[in-house]
Amino acid sequence: MFKDKKVVFSGVQPSGSLTIGNYLGAIKNFNAFSEEYQCLYCVVNEHAITVRQNPADLRKRTYETLALYMACGLDPEKNTLFVQSHVAAHAELGWILDCYTMFGELSRMTQFKDKSAKNADNINAGLFTYPTLMAADILLYQTELVPVGVDQKQHLELARDIAERFNGIYGETFVVPEGYIPPVTAKIMSLAEPTKKMSKSDENENAVVRILDPRDAIIRKFKRAVTDSGNEIRRGEGKDGIENLMSIYSAFTGKTLDEIESEFDGVGYGDFKLAVGEACADALAPVQAEFDRLMKDKAYLETVMKNGADMANYMAARTMSKVRRKIGFVEIK
Ligand code: TYM
Repeated sequence: MFKDKKVVFSGVQPSGSLTIGNYLGAIKNFNAFSEEYQCLYCVVNEHAITVRQNPADLRKRTYETLALYMACGLDPEKNTLFVQSHVAAHAELGWILDCYTMFGELSRMTQFKDKSAKNADNINAGLFTYPTLMAADILLYQTELVPVGVDQKQHLELARDIAERFNGIYGETFVVPEGYIPPVTAKIMSLAEPTKKMSKSDENENAVVRILDPRDAIIRKFKRAVTDSGNEIRRGEGKDGIENLMSIYSAFTGKTLDEIESEFDGVGYGDFKLAVGEACADALAPVQAEFDRLMKDKAYLETVMKNGADMANYMAARTMSKVRRKIGFVEIK
């Protein structure tokens, strides 16, 4: 089954309502790999509990994230769509790799520093070892390529280091993965503070456009987007807000940044923001309609989860048996 295909793996946390950053930086790009690669896309609920979650919300968002994968175009017949906690090997390999990851390496992770500052009352060990679990997610499937936004680059480099270290000690065990970071949309910025990443956990709703936001909310948020005191639609020093809107418009319309500069030559910020809002709302409308349809059929979503888990468990078992053998764990039949 899929023997000759190289593997693509990526994951999204069901820790909040997904944003256009998640869509443009990651999920939208997942489609491109389905034909050429064997693709696994995971709802990483074990990562989500590094920050306290309400159980009912976590459960609901797990279904929603899976439905969004499909609403964004991922066909479960061509991609393995699954939930992390349905494959126990993630946690098992995560533990093993913890023993091959250095305290100093984890201490340097910028996401750990940011998240501990935001959750000062819950700096748990899982938050610290999060990148090792992420390495396990990737290495478990002998992944070649990992499509992610730029904020995951440091975690990916650590996954490569861990793979190389393990291979160095025990001989070839893991494929050393490469990242795929999209050229224009790898970091969609907050609409309120355009020097900061758009994040699903932002407390300021005006900073974030969510995939499931209604059309009027999308347009209103873009209209309020923070820009600069100038009046030209172009890239440049101090124009982070406009550049961000240009990237978003480019991603939704397929136009290049040069084309956008000429299209909006002499046009004011207000009209440009409206055009970006409309392009975004138009592009998301079919995703939202398909999401609503899928969410009405929980039984179908559970079938997808089950089939995905079966495939993922099958693939994970092969790596795990190799890993256990190499490190000296006794296996019983
Ligand atoms: P998460 O859930 O924060 O985000 C999911 C994906 O969306 C990308 N992303 C963005 N891209 C562009 N602009 C933004 N503003 C933006 N915000 C988020 C992220 O880079 C990511 O690709 N640790 C991961 C989840 C994970 C994972 C993995 C990913 C766990 N295991 C294994 C790849 C492989 C995370 O927190 O993503």
